[in-house]
Order: sequence, then C-alpha cells, then structure tokens
Amino acid sequence: MAKLVIFGAGDIARLARFYFTRDSEHSVAAFAVDRAFRQTERFEDLPLVDFETVTEQYPPAEYSMFIAVSYANMNRVRAEKYTEAKAKGYRLVSYISSRCSWLTEQPPGDNCFVLEDNTVQPFVKIGNDVTLWSGNHIGHDAVIDDHCFISSHVVISGRVHVGEYCFLGVNATIRNAITIAPETLVGAGAIVMADTTPKSVYVPDRTAVFPRTSDKVKI
Ligand SMILES: CC(C)(COP(=O)(O)OP(=O)(O)OC[C@H]1O[C@@H](n2cnc3c(N)ncnc32)[C@H](O)[C@@H]1OP(=O)(O)O)[C@@H](O)C(=O)NCCC(=O)NCCS
Repeated sequence: MAKLVIFGAGDIARLARFYFTRDSEHSVAAFAVDRAFRQTERFEDLPLVDFETVTEQYPPAEYSMFIAVSYANMNRVRAEKYTEAKAKGYRLVSYISSRCSWLTEQPPGDNCFVLEDNTVQPFVKIGNDVTLWSGNHIGHDAVIDDHCFISSHVVISGRVHVGEYCFLGVNATIRNAITIAPETLVGAGAIVMADTTPKSVYVPDRTAVFPRTSDKVKI
C-alpha cells in the first residue's frame, strides 16, 4: 500500500479520502492545509498538519500527495498547490475510478481525479491535474490540457482540444473538433459549437419560471 497525504480539508478532500481508500492501492495517512487555514489538529479522524512543515512528519521519500482542491480562481488555487507540493519533492498521484470506462492507452498525468461513470474513449490524452467529476463523455482523440475541471455529464466530442485552466460546468456540450481556449468558462448547460477565445465565458439562456405555481398546472 502506498502512503498518501491529501492536501485540503474540505468536501473534495473528504471525497478524495473516500475514493482512494475504497478504490485504490493508496492508504491515506494525513491531511495538510496552509497554516493560516488550519483550525483543528484532526480532520476526518486523521492528523491535519501544516503544509509548510508537512515534509518533517510525512517525508516525500515515504509519502505521495494528492491536491484535493476545487476549481477556485479558474483552477489557479489547485495549480499553485500542485506546483508547491512538487517543489517539496512529493510525487503527485492520480485516481481513476474502477467504475469508469478508460479506453485510451494513454495514462493520465499526475494529480488527476477521474470519478465513476466517465467514458474516456480511445486515443484521448489527459494532462496533469485534471478533474473529471462523474459521468462525462470524453470523445476519441480529444486532448485535455493541464489544470482543467470538467464537472459532470459534460459531453466533449471527438477531437476537441481543451486548453489549460478551463472549467466546464454540468451538462455542457462541446461539439467535435473545436478548440476550447485556455481559461474558458463554460457554464452549466451551455452548448459550444465553435472555437472559443481565452478567458471567454459561455452561458445558455436560463429556463424560464412559469407564471403559475405547481398546484395550478396539469401534468
Ligand atoms: C456561468 C456561471 C459561472 C455564472 O454564474 P454567476 O456568476 O453566479 O452568474 P449569475 O447566474 O448570478 O448571473 C450573473 C449575471 O448574468 C446574467 N445572466 C446569467 N445568465 C445569462 C444569460 N444566459 N443571458 C444573459 N444574462 C445572463 C444574470 O441575470 C446576472 O445578471 P445581474 O448581475 O444583472 O443579476 C454559472 O451560471 C454556471 O454555469 N456555473 C457552473 C455551475 C456548475 O456547473 N457547477 C458544477 C460544479 S461541480
């Protein structure tokens, strides 16, 4: 069993511990956060230590690390910790759910988090520090660059190139063979049919509120 320290003490850290413990070769030894954010000695019944001094108790020669941070600041917060952990000498590990269909022969980069029910088709390439939350379709020959967060039930069609630091919201659809430029934010339910420009934001029309209450309509 490889020993692991998880960076983070929030929902994603709690979930990462769950997934790594039940569905990987790793055992989680501790959590770490920046000193300024640490309010307790323990998290989820494990030691919670300062990231600044984590190497003293959990040396990189014996422990690997996983950065369990969300998409805050368009993934910049996670990327910053990713870089800092590597500079401390840690090997960053990836989790791929045993319940996803991983059909590409290309392994993912490091610090990836690939949850259940993803379909990753042949010839797909996934970079470092990419999260595929549950249930996405990543079409054949697609490329996802570093530090992206793909939420849930996103369709990335074949031959799409997703640049680094993108966020794709739930139920987004990306048509085949286009390029999603770095730092694009695709809102929930958006349908993107052409190349995007860096840092652009896509939102679909909101579903309208019907002018009558549910007790006043026939279904
Ligand atoms: C794109 C997104 C980030 C925008 O979120 P937001 O900043 O909270 O934006 P809001 O919905 O509050 O809308 C901001 C403004 O844009 C307007 N707006 C929103 N959608 C619009 C649309 N389709 N057309 C025109 N205006 C729109 C809103 O009316 C609002 O205007 P106001 O400031 O005058 O009130 C959000 O809609 C989204 O899709 N988030 C991703 C959710 C998701 O997938 N989560 C999964 C996490 S795992």
